Amino acid sequence: MGVILASAGSAVGLGNIWRFPTEVGSNGGAAFILVYLGFVIFLALPVMVCEFLMGRSSHSNTVGAWKVLAPGSPLIVAGYMGIVAGVLILSFYSVVAGWTLDYTVLSLTCQLSGSQDYASVFQSFVANPWKPIVFLVLFLLVTHWIVVRGVERGIERYSKLMMPMLLLIILVLVVYAVNMPGAEKGLAFLLHPDFSKLTPRVALSAMGQALFSLSVGIGCLTTYASYFRKETRLMSSALSVCLIDTLVAVMSGFIIFPAVFSVQGVGVDEGPGLVFITLPYVFDSAFRGMPVLGYIFSGLFYLLLMLAALTSSISMHEIATAFLTDRSTDRSATDRLQGKAYEEERRRAARIVTTVCILLGTACSLSFGPWKDYTLLGMGVFEWFDYVTAKFCMPLGALIISIFVGWMMPQREVRAQLTNWETLPVRLYGIFRFLARWVAPLGVTIVFINELLGHGA
Ligand code: PHE
Repeated sequence: MGVILASAGSAVGLGNIWRFPTEVGSNGGAAFILVYLGFVIFLALPVMVCEFLMGRSSHSNTVGAWKVLAPGSPLIVAGYMGIVAGVLILSFYSVVAGWTLDYTVLSLTCQLSGSQDYASVFQSFVANPWKPIVFLVLFLLVTHWIVVRGVERGIERYSKLMMPMLLLIILVLVVYAVNMPGAEKGLAFLLHPDFSKLTPRVALSAMGQALFSLSVGIGCLTTYASYFRKETRLMSSALSVCLIDTLVAVMSGFIIFPAVFSVQGVGVDEGPGLVFITLPYVFDSAFRGMPVLGYIFSGLFYLLLMLAALTSSISMHEIATAFLTDRSTDRSATDRLQGKAYEEERRRAARIVTTVCILLGTACSLSFGPWKDYTLLGMGVFEWFDYVTAKFCMPLGALIISIFVGWMMPQREVRAQLTNWETLPVRLYGIFRFLARWVAPLGVTIVFINELLGHGA
């Protein structure tokens, strides 16, 4: 249970509740969701299993895993890329987590109700030169603090209670949202696919979203799996994580879109602000006439969302921290939880990671305000970080990982890991092998080539 909880804690976060609706809105709705689901099943799930087995087999962080499993191979570049991507993601992720923190405070101090113009509330907050930065730094400091306290103690305790509570609130909101007056347009947007909207760009976005949402492709889960026990069932754990994650994402779509069409001045393709502008509206109209209940629900929701973001940010932080610690002390994950000198190293490593993320995160945050006009090919710093990681690093990482596990790693070891040394049925192993060898690598390659050709056209 602990394993599923920790990995689900990494997977479920702003990727589901903020990024998923944003991408669905910008990419045309139902057709995007179908393609996304395809990528979850045929790409993200098998690669998640690959990452799990690489971590458990090598007992090592993402770069260490490549060193142990493929000594001297240039594929180690995927390990380093994962670390850089993890830091970049954490930087822009913390910006949005900072917004969530601000919304938690606004909601708990009753400043986020009474049918205001939520679009301008959001715009003026993100454009403020210092406020969002304060919240972003606060969020990163909390992440830092938990990471320094150690993985097991840190993460599991926090997710055990939170996750079911978040799911419950989301469920209540879905039930309300799909029944609200005027919900039909939103439901049609989510349920009636318009395949003419499928372009290479949409496929790339769907692939990126599937990997991002499941934390796959940058060695995050490899790092976690280095702590897994021998009895952990890798395939069924991965399946459970995918199910929970997808459920949360789809449900948040069902909260946001029925409401979007009723909010003045916001379109489905609003971008990063979509969720933050729409949600207060949902709370307002759901609990009209019941202000106390509305207060409790909205405060709790933002708080839980912030905590869900925290269990994800810890996992990103952990990629680079585990790498830097292991590199300087040259220990393997099995020894990780002991030793004073080791703890000191870990603290130092975490400090470096946090400082870099604060600096990069500040740049991302400023790109919504004072640095708004600094763009390259029409994208600001925040958008670039998002694009490079989700649409390039993660798919490339997934491609390399699946090719390695499918074609190059000794199949005896792969099979031993997946059947827990022949104590589990082998039926699923064949399916996994086919997906990892053929479907996942070809999927990424086709989308990449299409995107390149699409650009040329
Ligand atoms: N999967 C996380 C989310 O959905 C984000 C994440 C990406 C976490 C990459 C770790 C690594 O919010």
